[in-house]
Amino acid sequence: MFPQFTEDQTAIRDAARDFAMSEIEPGASARDASGEFPSDIVKQLGEMGFMGMVVPEAYGGAGVDFLSYILALEQVAYADASVAVTMSVNNSVACGPILAFGTEAQKQKYLKPMANGEMIGGFMLTEPDAGSDAAALKTRATKVDGGWKLNGAKAWITNGGVGRYFVTMARTDPDKGKKGISAFILDADQPGVVMGRPEAKMGLRSSKTVMVALEDAFVSEDAMLGKSGDGLKVAFGGLDGGRVGIAAQALGIAQRAMDESVAYARARMSFGKPIGEHQMIQTYLAEMEARLQAARLLVYRAAALKGAGKPCTVEAATAKLFTTESAVWICDRAVQIHGGYGYSREYTVERLYRDVRVTTIYEGTSEIQRMVIAREILK
Ligand code: CAA
Repeated sequence: MFPQFTEDQTAIRDAARDFAMSEIEPGASARDASGEFPSDIVKQLGEMGFMGMVVPEAYGGAGVDFLSYILALEQVAYADASVAVTMSVNNSVACGPILAFGTEAQKQKYLKPMANGEMIGGFMLTEPDAGSDAAALKTRATKVDGGWKLNGAKAWITNGGVGRYFVTMARTDPDKGKKGISAFILDADQPGVVMGRPEAKMGLRSSKTVMVALEDAFVSEDAMLGKSGDGLKVAFGGLDGGRVGIAAQALGIAQRAMDESVAYARARMSFGKPIGEHQMIQTYLAEMEARLQAARLLVYRAAALKGAGKPCTVEAATAKLFTTESAVWICDRAVQIHGGYGYSREYTVERLYRDVRVTTIYEGTSEIQRMVIAREILK
């Protein structure tokens, strides 16, 4: 199988699977219904090193390679995609940019609590009027004594209300366009950071997503991430890794939809035989399996490149585009195979169908992935 996994990668994947199926999966349906955030599970993931997987041990992380992280994330998503997005955002777009651009002091201060699960991190790029066109963001950072004051609104912020440190992009120099945006590490534990009520979402109901108002939120001099004007580089660099993470999340959801469908096709009888013996169901299952296998190769390949420190913008965007679009299709077919039962909350595929839908939207829509791929190959 490509890639050949090392013993460590296999062990991490298996440990993630055991934990996901014994500790995460049993409560997934109840949390989907109640919207309760899985604080205890996140704490346990932190203790296992899963909240900062590629963060070196010196900064409190597990110090494993990027592919191991992706394998673990896929297993967590198989059990509960809400837990997976909490884990992915903390690892990829919160710890990731701090690891890549942070000073030694920033790494010491922020990565330790974020990697061991004591505190959760997040990423504040999107605004109510700046989603796909991230460079249109309006949040302003004004220089004050000892740091900056941030004012503006951030939208769709994962881990808002439950997280503490957020990699936050704001405009430091309004006259410089894209080069006037800088990145900061914002401490949300202050009155100037006003977290809205959790959004009432279609899926991923036990992960938290909020609007955030920044009202003179203070960031100190030493909390700028990278150089002044480098905000988009920090953000888009982080999103390369983030997109592989979301692709892995979609892969986990799709594999679960596949397994649920195969089990159902074996058990459900119609016209005197299991529905899996009907050619039309077989066609669906075969097509689902083909897309799943192709997606898995793309995700692991992008992860291997990212882990090797090689450029992976096109590969990450391709993996996200193909895997998330395929996963949405696979979950749709899974509901179809289940017939009326697939439309019932009693069956897991109903939750998968809702959970998977956002994967073609967040961390860059499918349209943005196509734009990223086309731009790079035309360069
Ligand atoms: N890595 C590092 N730097 C990069 C980069 C990458 N992959 N891509 C671009 N950059 C740099 C560029 O080099 C450029 O810097 P220089 O001018 O110094 O060269 C700077 O970033 C700006 O790049 P562009 O001029 O290409 O930017 P653009 O305005 O044309 O936008 C875009 C490009 C691809 C459309 C981008 O806006 C984009 O990706 N949009 C989607 C935003 C997105 O994915 N949002 C997700 C929100 S986070 C989320 O969903 C998390 C969650 O909670 C689940």
